[in-house]
Amino acid sequence: MDISKLKKAFGSFATGVTVVATCEANHTPRGFTANSFSSVSLEPPLLLICIAKSALSLAVFKEASFFSVNILSETQREVARVFASQSEEKFDSVPWESGFKNVPLLSGSLARFVCKTDRHIEAGDHTILIGEVKDFDYKKGNPLSYFRGQYVSLTNNL
Ligand SMILES: Cc1cc2nc3c(=O)[nH]c(=O)nc-3n(C[C@H](O)[C@H](O)[C@H](O)COP(=O)(O)O)c2cc1C
Repeated sequence: MDISKLKKAFGSFATGVTVVATCEANHTPRGFTANSFSSVSLEPPLLLICIAKSALSLAVFKEASFFSVNILSETQREVARVFASQSEEKFDSVPWESGFKNVPLLSGSLARFVCKTDRHIEAGDHTILIGEVKDFDYKKGNPLSYFRGQYVSLTNNL
């Protein structure tokens, strides 16, 4: 199978963009840009995110009892760019605060979920991380979207 063509075909599914974040045991915040977010269940409230086995933060997320998912607004393109890097200073250049259970929450996000780790599922070159939502907020605004390898904006302002 042609993997680069498969990647392009998967990229035909337009998504939002999130930053998934947690803290190491020594309180260092860690996070990465992810578009593999999906809501899973309302009762109980579950969501998922897929983490590449190549991600530097994989081990931290596998150890974490709590993590956040921050759904980015169209004003947060730079945040998405920073968190898609492997920089050690990702949190130095973006506004954030500590939420429930001290997980990092990115200021200005359209919606923010604090989750308790429910389970991990190994799936090929990714680990599926399922979280149970323990706290959340959301606000009005336009989402940052991603389609065929590019950030795109929707302008509904709902
Ligand atoms: C729009 C976009 C979506 C991404 N989605 C994911 C994803 O769902 N899962 C993932 O593991 N990496 C995803 N990545 C790649 C990670 O953000 C990138 O590999 C990052 O450097 C990982 O950080 P870390 O190595 O510090 O953990 C995405 C990148 C971009 C630009």
